[in-house]
Amino acid sequence: MKKIDTEVFDLNKDVSEAEKKRAIARCGEIIRNGGTVVFPTETVYGLGANALNSDAVKKIFEAKGRPQDNPLIVHISRFDMVNDLVETVPEKAKQLADAYWPGPMTMIMKRAAVIPDTVTAGLDTAGIRFPSHKVAQAFIAAADCPIAAPSANISGRPSPTRGQHVIEDMMGKVDAILIADESDVGLESTVIDMTSDTPTVLRPGGITVDDIKKVIGDVAVSPNATKPIIPKEVRSPGMKYKHYAPKGDMVIVRGSQRQIVDKINTAVKKLGGGTKTAILATDETMDQYHKGLIVSLGSRDNPAEMSHNLFDCLRSFDEMGVTHIFAEDIEMSNDTLALINRLYKAAGYTFI
Ligand code: TXA
Ligand code: MG
Repeated sequence: MKKIDTEVFDLNKDVSEAEKKRAIARCGEIIRNGGTVVFPTETVYGLGANALNSDAVKKIFEAKGRPQDNPLIVHISRFDMVNDLVETVPEKAKQLADAYWPGPMTMIMKRAAVIPDTVTAGLDTAGIRFPSHKVAQAFIAAADCPIAAPSANISGRPSPTRGQHVIEDMMGKVDAILIADESDVGLESTVIDMTSDTPTVLRPGGITVDDIKKVIGDVAVSPNATKPIIPKEVRSPGMKYKHYAPKGDMVIVRGSQRQIVDKINTAVKKLGGGTKTAILATDETMDQYHKGLIVSLGSRDNPAEMSHNLFDCLRSFDEMGVTHIFAEDIEMSNDTLALINRLYKAAGYTFI
């Protein structure tokens, strides 16, 4: 791929309101000219292009190295934009939008013909999301079109939640990078399929299954969201499905809190206990480790905090050249489902 001269706008720096406006307007212009822009959202950073321009959307797949058969989410900045993008908005989707849009929830609906096949990977449905991040909203409004955007990571790497992450992954590959604060939620949006009578959560996220039940009653959860709970004593790297994956070998350590700590201490000792061996601990346990690189994901009582930190922790392990990661298993609940889903995927579903 030809190297692109990437324009970087960092709104974190001490910039005036007028400069912020100029940066956002410039990013909107780049989109209207068929370019690509990385932008912040409350979940993770997105890699955007005009969702109605097939050639622009192709550039997203190129920049990410993403397989063409994985559809993109279309982002909007006003609720009424959805009407042009889908055949009809089902009643339950209206209710969910009322409750949780703008916010970390993507709804799959029957798509309208204006959305090109490049966005939907040829499916007759499209995922629509109205992000709550103020800069994301201003950017989409400035572009004056719906924005197709996957997470702005190189395919297979943890999703980016900070400006530094998108600089690492996307410099030279996109036309512009718009940086604001750290992503608040830190995990990608909840994806819910609204095309069947009983809507189905395909990917757990910031809006939980219970949140959804509260509004529309019955909801199904795809087995993919929780699978597979099959402990594997022996690792088989060939079978490993890589996703959100850090570069080091990562395993989830299961058992009671006591057992987890003992297993990790034994394993770390075996490996020599240097800083290339990392422990993804929690506030409650981190004092019980003495060797290796010990990092707390946050408090077990605070799933939002742990979710917010996960991708940043995984990326920091890469930066430090960590070769082995032992991650404590987290207790499954409505509030930890999204976190566990990403944690297990990052470990390629390997457990000890
Ligand atoms: O929070 C988020 O959702 C972030 C920010 C940037 O908005 N975006 C994001 O996009 O995570 P991406 O492409 O990394 O993940 C989109 C997920 C994929 O698993 C994709 O397969 C699924 O949504 N998806 C998109 N359109 C779909 C459709 N029509 N049917 C089924 N799944 C769909
Ligand atoms: Mg992604």
